[in-house]
Amino acid sequence: MAQAYKIAVLPGDGIGPEVMAEALRVLDAIEKKYQVTFERTHANVGGAGIDNEGKALPETTVSICRASDAILFGSVGGPKWETLPPDEQPERGALLPLRKIFGLYANLRPAIIFPSLTGASSLKEEVIGGGFNVLVIRELTGGIYFSQPKGIEGSGRDRIGVDTMRYSVPEIERIAHVAFQAARKRGKKVCSIDKANVLSSSVLWREIVTTIAKEYPDVELSHMYVDNAAMQLVRWPKQFDVILCENMFGDILSDEAAMLTGSLGMLPSASLAEGSFGMYEPSGGSAPDIAGQGIANPIAQILSAGMMLRFSFGMVEAADAIDNAVATVLDQGFRTRDIYQKKAGEKLVNTKEIGDAVIAAL
Ligand code: NAI
Ligand code: MG
Repeated sequence: MAQAYKIAVLPGDGIGPEVMAEALRVLDAIEKKYQVTFERTHANVGGAGIDNEGKALPETTVSICRASDAILFGSVGGPKWETLPPDEQPERGALLPLRKIFGLYANLRPAIIFPSLTGASSLKEEVIGGGFNVLVIRELTGGIYFSQPKGIEGSGRDRIGVDTMRYSVPEIERIAHVAFQAARKRGKKVCSIDKANVLSSSVLWREIVTTIAKEYPDVELSHMYVDNAAMQLVRWPKQFDVILCENMFGDILSDEAAMLTGSLGMLPSASLAEGSFGMYEPSGGSAPDIAGQGIANPIAQILSAGMMLRFSFGMVEAADAIDNAVATVLDQGFRTRDIYQKKAGEKLVNTKEIGDAVIAAL
């Protein structure tokens, strides 16, 4: 009997449903090619949740996610729902609760520079040419964004703004394991980012990451201070394979790494919980400016589905096949409007035509 996986499909609003449709067609092709079954249950989230069930994250959606092996998420948000109280809006009312409910503590954002798209980057051809990819792994539920004490104390000019950066040994251990396991499946290098010359939380971070590294003798570990890492990322990004960061350093460095690629519509992401459960979504938003026109770039959504196969289902070969198919489609010159540079050999196509081309390449 074919292996079966349960997927909660949450297309959301804006371009979400349009790009999701293409990712699902790619999963159809993977089912045929690899004799697996993806049991998909669709659920409302974000604006679609508000419009259809009165809530950004309806209980039925949470139940469907709980009964699944992974969540494939589209995108949410837009001017239509901006007048609602903040906690009821699509992003705050759905995305943040999902992260919390499912303990999604590890955020993986690969910055993929495809050989045929290097012209879209702000870096010089000789720095990024040939194509490569860097995977930023960001701790998502600890560190300075969440630690106590936090807040503004006192009054008037005596006020003091306080944030605390705190990491426990288990928190560092589990994110380090994610990084080493990911590196094992790719370039076998982890660069751990900290500020151990100044911050105590970083001293502990460095010690624990070094200890965990002993369990992964096949993976090479290096350490880098965050200020140097920010510089090295634009100086010579190819030196990196997996970059492991605490929450705030990862927030900043993942945005910097993303811009190496030059386009938001290309970037997938994964948010992982303990075990194999994860949520997979494009790094970009719902793009209300182009929603409903069938012209959005579905590549980020398709690559997010690939990450789901890689990290939640252990289907490394199929995930590689999706990544390679996307590279082929770009080599063939297929471009949605956001990555179209009016160069010879480029073909301006719509959302569905990219899906068709990826399936053909598979
Ligand atoms: P955005 O990412 O939706 O759009 C920024 C620009 O990139 C727009 O010009 C858009 O057309 C373009 N773009 C994004 N994805 C694209 C794609 N796949 N193909 C072609 N072009 C693409 O960010 P923006 O405008 O700041 O936010 C719009 C809405 O999305 C807001 O309501 C925001 O809160 C929400 N949002 C949701 C996220 C999520 O669902 N995870 C993440 C970021 C923003
Ligand atoms: Mg950010």
